[in-house]
Amino acid sequence: MTVVLGIETSCDETGVGIVVDGELRANAIASSVELHARYGGVVPEVASRAHVEAMLPTIRRACLDAGLALTDLDAVAVTEGPGLAGALLVGVAAAKALAAGLGVPLFGVHHLAAHVAVDTLEHGPLPEGTIGLLVSGGHSSLVDVRDVAAPVVLGETLDDAAGEAFDKVARLLGLGFPGGPIVDRVARDGSADAIAFPRGMAGDGTYDFSFSGLKTAVARWIAAQADVPVADVAASFQEAVADVLTQKAVAACVDRGADTLVIGGGVAANSRLRALAAERCETAGVRLRVPRPGLCTDNGAMVAALGHLLVARGAAPSPPDVGARSTFPLPH
Ligand code: KG4
Ligand code: ZN
Repeated sequence: MTVVLGIETSCDETGVGIVVDGELRANAIASSVELHARYGGVVPEVASRAHVEAMLPTIRRACLDAGLALTDLDAVAVTEGPGLAGALLVGVAAAKALAAGLGVPLFGVHHLAAHVAVDTLEHGPLPEGTIGLLVSGGHSSLVDVRDVAAPVVLGETLDDAAGEAFDKVARLLGLGFPGGPIVDRVARDGSADAIAFPRGMAGDGTYDFSFSGLKTAVARWIAAQADVPVADVAASFQEAVADVLTQKAVAACVDRGADTLVIGGGVAANSRLRALAAERCETAGVRLRVPRPGLCTDNGAMVAALGHLLVARGAAPSPPDVGARSTFPLPH
């Protein structure tokens, strides 16, 4: 039996997951999102302090949920980066202390690789040559998942991340923070083709994205209205994002002969993105894999999942001086 505990603290979620022999056994999460809501975005110092407070209770919760003791752990994995420096430091320090105290190996993992790896908990090993679409609050990338621990970037956003665009449009519409889930909900009552918002860089032959033009177009459109049809704006904006993301992701699969697309990151929880990806993948003969929404947003299970894959393949643990890497680019 191989027991791996994973710690995630790159943003505002203190996540602790436990994976046993490739199976998810616990996924405890404490979120400081409500503390940030009044500021309209994550405040790094507030997030770091909340991680310090939540860390031990969340580890305890995960062990209770899994029915395991800390002494049952075979390895500890932690998000090394990218993310908020202070927030990451809390997780890395806790993971180091835990691994050193228990005398077990420590694996520092890449946050985006973990967003891909979490899918293996639900759908098994990823076939070679899988393409990954990683869409979160800080990133929007298309990757070649030839190595699940180190995906290679095929293209990425040149400005805002998809999640950032959702959060900004939610703010423009006065919907609160974090905006993604609220826009998703509000959009259900709107029409996706009510307003023709621009599809930045669509069909340009690259795998890169741009969402800042879309955000500006939404802001201008709203400013020109006396009475803003909130649901229609949400639905039309969401459609523009889902359209360009799925177009490029499916094109990457077809161009590169990949038969599987995996979508990960907080925006992968978006209902329209999931539905449009399913439709377009089916047409193109590509198998779509998306974790359930609760595993798309930041959590500890994704870190434990990637840590477990590394242990299973006999990978070398991280060196004892492993640190937090707030910027941590993936290879191109
Ligand atoms: O992966 P994640 O939890 O944290 C980062 O690594 O950034 O992603 C957070 C982002 C936020 O921008 C949030 O608004 C967005 O994911 N998000 C969504 C949905 N749920 C979360 N965006 C669109 N639709 C959703 N249902
Ligand atoms: Zn994330």
